[in-house]
Amino acid sequence: MKAQVTSRKMLQLTVAFGLAAATGLMVVSGPAQAGIKGSKHDLGSTGGSQLGATATTTEVCVFCHTPHGSNTAAPVPLWNKSLPSSTYTRYSSLSTSTLDGAEATVGSVSLACLSCHDGSQAMDVMINAPGSNGYNAAGANFAGGVALTGFPKLGTDLSNDHPISIQYGGGGWKSTDGDGAAAASALSDGSFKAGVKSTINSNPAWWIDTTGGTANSRDKTDMVLYTRTLSGTVQPFVECASCHDPHNSTAQPVSFLRISNTGSAVCLACHDK
Ligand code: HEC
Ligand code: HEC
Ligand code: HEC
Ligand code: HEC
Repeated sequence: MKAQVTSRKMLQLTVAFGLAAATGLMVVSGPAQAGIKGSKHDLGSTGGSQLGATATTTEVCVFCHTPHGSNTAAPVPLWNKSLPSSTYTRYSSLSTSTLDGAEATVGSVSLACLSCHDGSQAMDVMINAPGSNGYNAAGANFAGGVALTGFPKLGTDLSNDHPISIQYGGGGWKSTDGDGAAAASALSDGSFKAGVKSTINSNPAWWIDTTGGTANSRDKTDMVLYTRTLSGTVQPFVECASCHDPHNSTAQPVSFLRISNTGSAVCLACHDK
């Protein structure tokens, strides 16, 4: 799948190559990904959220991560927010007759996203606020908070959203399967792409390779599957961050996708359609 190159892009490329040739500079690198600073996920004073900014800090990461005193109940690195205790309506409640995979409770990284995106707590609620003595185990509003108006929240009714906390490929793929590519035969549902299983730091790791990054290596541009345990079996699940990277502000067509969705590349990475 090749991204469409518009004539404007062509022109920019030509200019860039011209410049590179003129200066004797040749840069070989992967597709540029814009970072989180200044993006919609930057809630500090330099941020780009349509909802406004928190004037009293220029910090970016603090709205989600803290170097100390993080929430150890969260299965995400150094999480600086309390996790929501909301009750969710699940996709499975629609009872589409084609759904094969079983859902686990809403958890893993999805719960971290939902700690803002279900609208149950303000985005400036944090456990360890910037500066000295900012710690509050239960989480507290940080002064100069961001209003919730117009927030693109999903709410707690997830039945109209792509399923999350759901087995990949209808289940069947598990931690006791061997490492390596091509696990399609392990999947109960044949209409899914084969993925890769690996062992990283003694833990099972699963992902679906995309054309970005290196084949058979887990890259940020791959569809990452998350390790969950369901009915005693350790296995791969689709979560919010399977499709999204919260730090990649490149708009494709919205920010924070792992790869551009041109030609529905995100969907076709997993679905064999
Ligand atoms: C809007 C919330 C949010 C903000 C702001 C944020 N992160 Fe994250 N970060 C996350 C989530 C969610 C994960 C877990 C993602 C996953 O499991 O793939 C994560 C994972 C990470 C990881 C480990 C996985 C990886 O991608 O390498 C690092 C390191 C990290 N963040 C660093 C940062 C830094 C540094 C900043 C500030 C410049 C920052 N983050 C700002 C939400 C955020
Ligand atoms: C990370 C892998 C992954 C990606 C990317 C992905 N899906 Fe899915 N999708 C799944 C899984 C797993 C299910 C659950 C299917 C099942 O168990 O039958 C699912 C379910 C669905 C269903 C419901 C099927 C049913 O029987 O009710 C639809 C429709 C769907 N996806 C469309 C999409 C579209 C459109 C996109 C792109 C925006 C997309 N998917 C991206 C993995 C993925
Ligand atoms: C600290 C609160 C917070 C957390 C945690 C958070 N978000 Fe967001 N998210 C926001 C805000 C604020 C916006 C932008 C509001 C606006 O400007 O419209 C946003 C916007 C988005 C958008 C839309 C981007 C666009 O271009 O319109 C996506 C997609 C998104 N978030 C995905 C995620 C995912 C996935 C996670 C978890 C990996 C996550 N977010 C975690 C606060 C958060
Ligand atoms: C299967 C892939 C997939 C999963 C899983 C997924 N998303 Fe998305 N999400 C997308 C795509 C693709 C878009 C861009 C839709 C478009 O074309 O506008 C998107 C858009 C969004 C937006 C912007 C909505 C808008 O219209 O402005 C938010 C916010 C968001 N996602 C949050 C989440 C959160 C939170 C989760 C987990 C509860 C999640 N997503 C799970 C694929 C996914």
